[in-house]
Amino acid sequence: MLTREQNDLLHKVGPGSPMGELMRRYWHPVAAVGELDDEPVKAVRLMGEDLVLFKVGPNGANGDSIGGGVDGSSKDGGANGGVDGYGLLERHCPHRRADLSYGWTEEGGLRCSYHGWLFDAAGRCIAQPFEQTAHPDAAFKDKVQARAYRAQAKAGLIWAYIGPDPSPELWDWDRYYDRGYKQVVFSDVPCNWLQCQENSIDPVHFEWLHSNWSLRRKGDAGYSPTHTRLGFDEFEFGIRYLRVRSDTDEENELWTVGRVCLWPNALYTGHFEWRVPVDDENTLSVGWFIDPIPGDEPFEQERIPHWRSPALDERTGRWITSHIMNQDFTAWTGQGAVSDRWNEHLGESDRGVILLRKRLTEDLAIVEDGGDPKGVLRDAARNVKTPLPRIRAEIGQFAPTAHPPRFPFLAGQPPEVAAEYHGLWKAHGGALPGD
Ligand code: FES
Ligand SMILES: [Fe+2]
Repeated sequence: MLTREQNDLLHKVGPGSPMGELMRRYWHPVAAVGELDDEPVKAVRLMGEDLVLFKVGPNGANGDSIGGGVDGSSKDGGANGGVDGYGLLERHCPHRRADLSYGWTEEGGLRCSYHGWLFDAAGRCIAQPFEQTAHPDAAFKDKVQARAYRAQAKAGLIWAYIGPDPSPELWDWDRYYDRGYKQVVFSDVPCNWLQCQENSIDPVHFEWLHSNWSLRRKGDAGYSPTHTRLGFDEFEFGIRYLRVRSDTDEENELWTVGRVCLWPNALYTGHFEWRVPVDDENTLSVGWFIDPIPGDEPFEQERIPHWRSPALDERTGRWITSHIMNQDFTAWTGQGAVSDRWNEHLGESDRGVILLRKRLTEDLAIVEDGGDPKGVLRDAARNVKTPLPRIRAEIGQFAPTAHPPRFPFLAGQPPEVAAEYHGLWKAHGGALPGD
């Protein structure tokens, strides 16, 4: 249980708030590389700040990033640099505050659609059409600066950094390099990010929210194996949570390896789920998934597909509950837009949640003192294919399956994504059901 004041301190991430300052020490995924390839300007809202993300170049075309590369080949195209890559600016034009997400890219920058002022990725005003006509010798544009942040591509995602300079390393997890079919899935979740992240360190929910609920949904009145022991082990980039169930023992990887509550706002179990704070009452769920491709010939995706999963069932007006992360969303949103933690009754199953809150609270003080919070990496030499603990890592990437595995995590996978995956599966010598 937290007091209302403690609750406010931990969940609010707007500009100037203590947790907002802490969360601004990290990179956050805000878009897919493929999105900006298709449409080079995108409205973004991150931690209560309205921003515009764009791909630098004529019509966005001179950025050289591709979805299939691990880093999308983007340079550090953010503030203070003004190089090719991605720009991330305040949403409202410094001229008369029009919405820059309705602008377009050209000549190395973003053109405001209202009066045509042009801004580069560093936020410098590089053209002011009528002003330059009326006063060719004036240097008005040199006095205009849009607030500029950093954006960088990695793993088919575009990441934003809106904290103080210098920015830390954008994590280079080894999983990004594994051979497989990757896809990125976004969901809009209308509640605060912290209750989503508390779910990343809540082992017992698997048994009920996923296993037993899924049994009931199938009309099965049985119960899945029950948890008998929980453990938590902190490391540099997060906290591993360990468990023993009635059908496993302490030799099992559920206990010896566990799963990762990845700092500060993600879950890693072989795939990634980031809970990105849009504002205090909205979260962007970003899922990064990898599925097996048969054989061992080199395999690179030209483009990592991205799609948006619906959260609501339009027929009923209720949340979709058929898929694993949709089940999570019902729990997160069910706690309210912001969980009223002063009404909680925490027990032994909540040790991880208590640990998470304690660690974040300690980091608030560290950030206030000018230090780096947990998980911030500044040594580029250590940011090369950094490994994270993963169950089944030693038997290869994937357990062998006869047919391509179905996608169990989120509802609404577009048929063309499934079709592309199945086509690749077959092209690499695999069999499809019915072959
Ligand atoms: S408001 Fe953007 S150019 Fe005038
Ligand atoms: Fe879950």
